[in-house]
Amino acid sequence: DHAFWLRPADEREHAFRLLRDLDKPAFFAEPDVPYIAEKGLGYHALVRHADILEASRNPEIFASGLGGATSIIDMPAEFAEYFGSMISMDDPRHARLRRIVSRAFTPKMIKQFESDVDVAASQIVDELLETGSGCDFVTEVAARLPLKIICDMMGIPESDYGFVFDRSNIILGGSDPEYVSDVESIGTALLTAGMELQELVQRLAADRVENPTNDLTSSLVNANIDGERLTAQELGSFFILLVVAGNETTRNAISYGMRLLTLNPDQKRSWLEDIDGRAPGAVEEIVRMASPVNYMRRKVTRDHEMNGNLYRQGEKVVLYYWSANRDESIFDDSLRFDIARNPNPHVGFGGPGPHFCLGAHLARREITVMFRELLRRVPQIEAGEPERLFSSFINGTKHMECTF
Ligand code: HEM
Repeated sequence: DHAFWLRPADEREHAFRLLRDLDKPAFFAEPDVPYIAEKGLGYHALVRHADILEASRNPEIFASGLGGATSIIDMPAEFAEYFGSMISMDDPRHARLRRIVSRAFTPKMIKQFESDVDVAASQIVDELLETGSGCDFVTEVAARLPLKIICDMMGIPESDYGFVFDRSNIILGGSDPEYVSDVESIGTALLTAGMELQELVQRLAADRVENPTNDLTSSLVNANIDGERLTAQELGSFFILLVVAGNETTRNAISYGMRLLTLNPDQKRSWLEDIDGRAPGAVEEIVRMASPVNYMRRKVTRDHEMNGNLYRQGEKVVLYYWSANRDESIFDDSLRFDIARNPNPHVGFGGPGPHFCLGAHLARREITVMFRELLRRVPQIEAGEPERLFSSFINGTKHMECTF
């Protein structure tokens, strides 16, 4: 039962099965199972590390552009209006769009605003300490740093942080009853959230045309691709991609990391002995175990054989990063949290290919700084039971009490 069936209308069933099966070794120890049913609703589940590398390296065979990469169900046309961004496109268009913003995410550029990340993290810990003895770690700590940083990069004013947080929770967490109570209205809720974020970007964009600043919204508004500007639709969905990807992922790595440290006091002690020196290894291990993005989806462009399985043109292939990150043939004792794990070739940020996470350097920096502040100033902090996000796509934590 390591393969499962997705009924398009039933994301909740998919999420339920995933949450039930994910930690079972059988889920990833078995070879992938072609699960192609009538009507083309099924898909191949890639659960081995080697298969995910190969699919990522061959985007001309495993394409992102045929129906969308972030959902197993092909994206309906009305969704493409708000969510049809470069993550669901192939080169050369994908590469052209990515180039507009890629410079802002290089290690050199991330270094330039390191001090902003430091100040923001330090302030979050100040406020945590003011609570006296504890709070909801997710909403008060983990979610705040990535939200603030991506909003600053986009030029979104602080008064809109809450608005952005709520809309992106609907966009990536819509299958959870806390964000969309009625399963039948998920589609409408998504479209409304997309439309509301579009309105925000149009408002910001109108201003940036006249008064360009050095934020990313200005880069998008003033981008010139072979003599052409982005259309309003392209601008809006690019903005939504960056805002949502920038704040819905890293928070889950930070929350999951906090829980891992609580459950593994030996690893926490080890990190405390050398907070800066052990950070790079610890951060990679947190991303491996947290795998905040559970999967990306591709579509096969021509018949292809890979590791003994046939993938036929038009079939869907889902790359389960969570599963590959627990592949025992790659990671010794793969369910163990080991901050000194080396090498650690996890695919938490995706496999090697054109879509490899644009924000990986930024995310690493945010996780590093958040834990540095916590370990230095609140080393006794512990996390309670996590309340998990009900989603098949995001391995998320919605709430988690912490005490110190
Ligand atoms: C793509 C994971 C943080 C922006 C991706 C992909 C994954 C991923 C798995 C798809 C890779 C593929 O298809 O091969 C994560 C994780 C994060 C994180 C686990 C945090 C721990 C961020 C941040 C940003 C970001 C902070 C900032 C904006 C993006 C974008 C893409 C992407 C724009 C699409 C890239 C493309 O299509 O070329 N990420 N991400 N991510 N990520 Fe992240």
